[in-house]
Amino acid sequence: MKILVTGGAGYIGSHTLVELLEAGHEVVVLDNLCNGAREALARVEQITGQPVSFVEGDVRDRVQLDALFDWHDIEAVIHFAGLKAVGESVAKPLAYYDNNVAGSLNLCQAMAAAGVFRLVFSSSATVYGPEAPVPYTETLPRGRATNPYGTSKAMVEQLLEDLCRADERWSVSLLRYFNPIGAHPSGLIGEDPQGVPNNLMPFIAQVAVGRRSHLAVFGDDYPTPDGSCVRDYLHVVDLAAGHVRALEAMSSPGVATYNLGTGQGYSVLEMVAAFTAVTGQAVPYQIAPRRDGDLAAFWADAAKAERELGWRALHGLEAMMADTWRWQYHNPKGYRLRVTDAV
Ligand code: NAD
Ligand code: UFG
Repeated sequence: MKILVTGGAGYIGSHTLVELLEAGHEVVVLDNLCNGAREALARVEQITGQPVSFVEGDVRDRVQLDALFDWHDIEAVIHFAGLKAVGESVAKPLAYYDNNVAGSLNLCQAMAAAGVFRLVFSSSATVYGPEAPVPYTETLPRGRATNPYGTSKAMVEQLLEDLCRADERWSVSLLRYFNPIGAHPSGLIGEDPQGVPNNLMPFIAQVAVGRRSHLAVFGDDYPTPDGSCVRDYLHVVDLAAGHVRALEAMSSPGVATYNLGTGQGYSVLEMVAAFTAVTGQAVPYQIAPRRDGDLAAFWADAAKAERELGWRALHGLEAMMADTWRWQYHNPKGYRLRVTDAV
């Protein structure tokens, strides 16, 4: 299949390119590089030995999308492109609704005009909202999102459900990710946040590599076994493989919603301890106040994806830690400079 991957130069997108190419698919990437790297695509080519067609552009640009669909014989789209920083979304709601909601709407309109009706969408566990009981199952209703980022994901889910109800040519997979971490085992691609990382794992890795002095653990007074928050961390290679399964399993019209997680939660303090145990690198930390909007604990019920897609997470915490560290160690400044280039 020839697949358009929007946001393919980003973290999850680049790992998904590898899985798609290794499964025999052809890919075309559309990315505006606001948070992605051209170098990531070169590394994907290096890992797979296969070419990646790249169009630098924006999902909100209808003229460019039409030209892309005219030029390439696209059969399906995996839509990663969007903004993802929860805190930033509170400060810049218009940017988030524009990029994530208007961008997705524009993409769907261009797909329909081009006669492409298969879409895999990057959603998030955040759509369950703060009141949902754990583990989160797909049968729960969407909850009240607590920030514009989460609302934008819920809005696009709703948009896609309405679209499928109205037009049975559409086939859509909503993939609700839990907490993706880790990197490709080659150490060639990984997460490369710009500025101070918002997320736990890149922060831990940057402390270990000496870019930051210590980790702030946001809260140790939650109702969890050790007081720090619990999340369902999954290896990004497993997450990427989930996209290939979702795409290949798409046969009937309508929306299918899947949690992609491991079903197992770990606390922040357990993650720090596991990183040190696996890599031998110390991660100094200090307990800091709770971060606004954080939930105490959530993890996935991942049974539906296993039952219907034959997908489950294969990598454990040890691989997640080792692969994060391999990537960070060999690329201390991400895609900008490799350790081997520096000497
Ligand atoms: P990322 O920022 O690394 O990748 C997103 C890519 O999209 C970047 O390369 C960026 O340059 C590109 N992009 C952004 N806006 C664009 C636009 N308007 N047009 C074209 N390209 C654009 O993020 P990621 O972690 O790989 O996340 C991918 C998707 O998964 C996002 O939609 C995100 O919201 C969703 N998601 C991520 C997580 C997570 O923890 N990483 C969790 C749940 C959901
Ligand atoms: N944390 C710290 N210190 C840090 C960073 C994070 O203690 O420097 C803690 C957080 O408080 C949280 C846990 O580590 O308890 C995980 O935090 P992340 O920011 O890595 O992940 P979140 O669970 O907050 O958010 C992620 C994605 C969002 C998505 C959400 C729900 O980043 O896009 O999961 O799926 F909305």
